Amino acid sequence: MKRLLALTAAAFLTLPLTPAAADPAGTPGAPGAGDPYFPGQGNGGYDALHYDLTLGYDPDSGRLSGRAVIAARATQALSRFNLDLVDTLSVRSVTVDGRPASHAQSGSELVVTPARPVRDRRGFSVVVRYDGQPTHVIDPDGAMDGWIKTGDGVYNANEPQGAITWYPGNHHMTDKATYRFTVTVPSSRVAVANGDLVRKASKGGRTTYVWNSREPMAGYLATVSIGIAQLTDRRIGGYRVTTSVDPQAAGDATGFAERHPPVLDFFSGLFGPYPYSSTGGIVDHAPEVGYALETQTRPIYPRVPSQSLLAHELAHQWFGNSVTPTLWRDIWLNEGFATYGEWLWADKLGTQSVQAAFDEAYARPAEDDFWQVPTADPGGPENLFHAPVYDRGAMTLHVLRGAVGDAAFFAILRAWAGEHRYGNADTAAFVALSERVSGQDLGALFDAWLFKPGKPSL
Ligand code: TRP
Ligand code: ZN
Repeated sequence: MKRLLALTAAAFLTLPLTPAAADPAGTPGAPGAGDPYFPGQGNGGYDALHYDLTLGYDPDSGRLSGRAVIAARATQALSRFNLDLVDTLSVRSVTVDGRPASHAQSGSELVVTPARPVRDRRGFSVVVRYDGQPTHVIDPDGAMDGWIKTGDGVYNANEPQGAITWYPGNHHMTDKATYRFTVTVPSSRVAVANGDLVRKASKGGRTTYVWNSREPMAGYLATVSIGIAQLTDRRIGGYRVTTSVDPQAAGDATGFAERHPPVLDFFSGLFGPYPYSSTGGIVDHAPEVGYALETQTRPIYPRVPSQSLLAHELAHQWFGNSVTPTLWRDIWLNEGFATYGEWLWADKLGTQSVQAAFDEAYARPAEDDFWQVPTADPGGPENLFHAPVYDRGAMTLHVLRGAVGDAAFFAILRAWAGEHRYGNADTAAFVALSERVSGQDLGALFDAWLFKPGKPSL
């Protein structure tokens, strides 16, 4: 689903063009979505609507076998199109609308040439069968991303580019889709994905878990995490809370499930209704992975999270997951907002006031490198998850709150979450919305905090 891009396309249609003769042979879809930080990520020419992924994984051999059924809609007549998947996995066959299609793999591009061109605006279905030994990738910042093996299974965190390591798709965040996961693992292991657990059945020493993710999701937020774990699936305080906890995980997991509803209630009061049909978390034992990820509906943690990490990942469900940026350079719309969520929750718990958190972050000396990075473009993919994105992003929101007052500020956050629910939006849209809701000219404020290097004065 591509809401923004669809709007852009609609805008083009209003131009007084003489309709070109339809080209029944079509042209190749673009090999990337046009994001300067990751030019090969995503593809052009179609919109993925739904992924039905059937995966079998054996943690002992490390072997994955997969079948991906992708429902898509063409946005141009296509002679061929690309999916993103690493070529260390072997594609065995591809069909398009049931007919065998030819395919070629190179790097992380899987090029599919259907037997007949796909006509513009037609719905079509792609089936990819593949297998191999998935491994993680290393990001520009040196972090592991993707299918990260642990002692007993997989820590599957895919921001910003790991989705290519385990399933074929249109892996840029502007193309959201619904998902269904059917995952079969040895019965000693648990397989947890996004959304609602709809079935669990064992046969011959293997267990199949079916997860249904009914709200649209960007590929980097998908997860299929596998390991020895205790799975619980309960109604608590009006939420369906599904958790899995590795007994080896560091920290005290007592009450982990019960800690979710109070945070979600608090954020719902401030940001608007929780966007998903279930919640929870995946707590793994993965000391070699330094980070948690806000995987949709159910974040993944390398150890039992603190209250502030839990609040951070749950705030992302509104900011990042439901409202998703359009380009990676807008990552502060995720991390600045989630960090502000941490500050709000700590204030609510009485641990630290939001003002104290701001003052602490702002106290960095003006000559510190921290201040040289403008919030709205960290400069490259190696800086996506650096402190300026998180802390200067959160400070930007706090300064905005001071300028417009609490009522307008939370109205802005609710409008942002509400108007772009399940969609994508960029920094310019946030600036415009803030000015509209507050009725103020915020140009100077955002200029200093978002776009210019240097420590803004207060
Ligand atoms: N988005 C994650 C969070 O803030 C952090 C994250 C994702 C990350 N991928 C990363 C951090 C890679 C470092 C490296 O919860
Ligand atoms: Zn975050």
